[in-house]
Amino acid sequence: MTVSEVFQNTTKKEVFAQSIQYWNSGKTKEWLDLGIDLVMGKREGYYFWDMDGKKLMDVHLNGGTYSLGHRNPEVISALVEATEHVDIGNHHFPSPLKALLAKTVVEASPAGMKHVIYGSSGGEVADLSIKCARSATGKKRIICVNNCYHGHTGLAVAAGAPRYCQLFHAERPDEFIKVPFNDIRAMEAAFAANDDIAAVLLETIPATYGFVMPLDGYLPAVKKLCEKYGALYIADEVQTGLLRSGKMWCIETYGVTPDIIVSSKGFSGGIYPISCVVLNEKASYWMTKDGSAHMATFGGSELGCACALKVFEILAREETKQNVAFVSSYLRKGLEEIKQENAGAFVGIRQNGLIMGLEFAGADGAVTVMQHLYENGVWAIYSQLDPSVLQFKPGVLATKAYCDELLEKLRKGISEARDEILAKA
Ligand SMILES: Cc1ncc(COP(=O)(O)O)c(C=O)c1O
Repeated sequence: MTVSEVFQNTTKKEVFAQSIQYWNSGKTKEWLDLGIDLVMGKREGYYFWDMDGKKLMDVHLNGGTYSLGHRNPEVISALVEATEHVDIGNHHFPSPLKALLAKTVVEASPAGMKHVIYGSSGGEVADLSIKCARSATGKKRIICVNNCYHGHTGLAVAAGAPRYCQLFHAERPDEFIKVPFNDIRAMEAAFAANDDIAAVLLETIPATYGFVMPLDGYLPAVKKLCEKYGALYIADEVQTGLLRSGKMWCIETYGVTPDIIVSSKGFSGGIYPISCVVLNEKASYWMTKDGSAHMATFGGSELGCACALKVFEILAREETKQNVAFVSSYLRKGLEEIKQENAGAFVGIRQNGLIMGLEFAGADGAVTVMQHLYENGVWAIYSQLDPSVLQFKPGVLATKAYCDELLEKLRKGISEARDEILAKA
């Protein structure tokens, strides 16, 4: 059966029934219980359509995976052209695409970054970043923050919030020390109490915790502590990187040069899975001793490299950079107006460029807003680790017309949610 035949010959009801029977019953039911009866069908640019034809503006973008839009035509062309020459490739050998992409990423990163190692998902490269830091320092423990999120693989899940560990007995309390975000004293105390800290692992702006903005001076102070105690600074830029802040890596907007950068999601152009770590000399030293100590069959697949190269080409354009600045300030202005119109319910805007969290009153105000926005044709998702905050992630190529349509729908959806939020708060 072809893909179009699968879509044509299946009803949404059948997809739900099969998903409950054969796929993830809990997750399928969870969304249905929230009134989100969504099965993605057609998708294009910053829109997608439910299988039944409902059109949605996508400001979730799957965490930035679709930062360049769904099925970006330039990325698709790069993939199609690549399939005429290569396949996944062989992870044991160098390749022109792997080498060119690594050079491109290093050159687009802060001075001091030297090497790139690939993976195929965010969790995988978050794990790898920890391995690199441990090898570089000869130490084991990692400081991370409460309510952080780095994926679901072995080390990444142990670094993250207990919610994702407990069911699987994946906690590693001896290895991962958790401190509150934005609390530099707690960070210093954690360093002082442990003599074997290999790294601090931080999302530059913790996404799943609702894009909590770093306080002035916090991230530079963390970097200083890393230097003082001989630990590496790992910046998880899976959601915040790739120009979403206006700079290639969001950490650059805070004046910090990390030792390791973790990237995924948008790195793939939303078309072919690929992720990476960007490493300085110290963090990549292990490769000079045993370059085959880490490997992954799909890591740095040549098809993925072709997509990521196109992503970097698009992000390097002056017009893309200017568009990020325009969309960030234009949407902010409109959001401020909507916030004033819904005072008491819409209570705050967290923002660094296109990385935004919209704060609502009550413990789960953003869940209510998500439901009303869905009714009005906008897809934005609440933050799992703080359901009062709506993750709001417009794309880097969004147009003024798209922003106007979005603001109009937000105005309607949020005003419809207001009374419900106020009643529950
Ligand atoms: C900040 C951050 N790091 C890492 C990951 C893990 O990425 P993946 O789902 O590709 O493993 C995510 C996923 O949402 C993330 O938001």
